[in-house]
Amino acid sequence: MKRILTYGTFDLLHKGHVRLLKRARDLGDNLIVGLSTDDFNSIKGKRAYTSFEDRKYILEALSCVDRVIPENSWDQKIHDVMTNNIDIFVMGDDWKGKFDYLKEYCEVIYIPRTEGISTTKIKQDLESFN
Ligand code: CTP
Repeated sequence: MKRILTYGTFDLLHKGHVRLLKRARDLGDNLIVGLSTDDFNSIKGKRAYTSFEDRKYILEALSCVDRVIPENSWDQKIHDVMTNNIDIFVMGDDWKGKFDYLKEYCEVIYIPRTEGISTTKIKQDLESFN
């Protein structure tokens, strides 16, 4: 049983998110998503359109996601890896190198981001959409 963990905000769920989640789940048998809370997003200087509860509801409806846990801070990752017996930590390659300190506790894999789509881009595109 291989257990995978990834983190993110996953606002306005799009193909890049789903592709990342599917590829993460394909690396093992169980995928946990650490979902940034609304409070943590404001610490990061981000504001999600969709509430934490609704983002969680949407992610839990995906067959590739087994469980969603809250991400409240930058420094919970080692604790989450240990308590959930995680084998592989996955992030998109925009984070390449940033979480290498977790290699002491599990495998760390950066998956290539999907080109041409992001929550930021959707928000920008919708401003000129009518
Ligand atoms: N991701 C991806 N491909 C994309 C967009 C995101 O693989 N085109 C991945 C990120 O690398 C991360 C996860 O999806 O591992 C969650 O990313 P998140 O920051 O929530 O999504 P973005 O669309 O990048 O949001 P923003 O524009 O607000 O930064």
